[in-house]
Amino acid sequence: MSRKMAIYPGSFDPPTKGHLDLIARGSRIFDELVVAILRNPEKTPLFSVEERKEMIELLTSGYKNVRVDTFEGLTVDYATRVRATAVLRGIRAISDYEYELQMALMNRKLQPSLETVFMMPAEHYSYVSSRLVREIAAMGGPVGALVPGLIEQRLRAKFGAAKRSKAPAASSKRGRKRNLQS
Ligand code: PNS
Repeated sequence: MSRKMAIYPGSFDPPTKGHLDLIARGSRIFDELVVAILRNPEKTPLFSVEERKEMIELLTSGYKNVRVDTFEGLTVDYATRVRATAVLRGIRAISDYEYELQMALMNRKLQPSLETVFMMPAEHYSYVSSRLVREIAAMGGPVGALVPGLIEQRLRAKFGAAKRSKAPAASSKRGRKRNLQS
């Protein structure tokens, strides 16, 4: 019997515990699962594609049948290139359904042999989204329940660094004065 391979496409900016939960579930029903990070030139992400790839690789290193890749362009073209038979997507709540249905049907129109498989993450992750995680972390709120420890650290480093570079540090003021004087 042929091996069943699925891609799990998304932005993963950043990966959340909900994404990890879905990867665990997907890895149990497919022979191979490729987490496929979209390179989207129209968006300015918080984490670069390379950072996201490295983070997801570290977080999924325990799974023998999961690998991480990046792609540009249409999901169906990427799926065809890697010979995937299915696209895995998560549905957290009914509010996700309309968009996901539209995307699944459009993908089917573009590539009829590619199936979309929806899975639900654990209900306690049903309210977790990368967008809310970014927003909470940017304002210094706690995200430990929403993302793995590694991501929490990276968020702290990212926003700590952003704050530091924005703060009118005493030393830089002194520097400016010196520059004005010189
Ligand atoms: O994590 P996201 O942002 O919800 O993932 C959305 C993603 C990447 C799956 C979707 O935007 C996508 O497939 N983009 C690639 C371009 C494409 O194929 N567009 C047509 C979709 S019907």
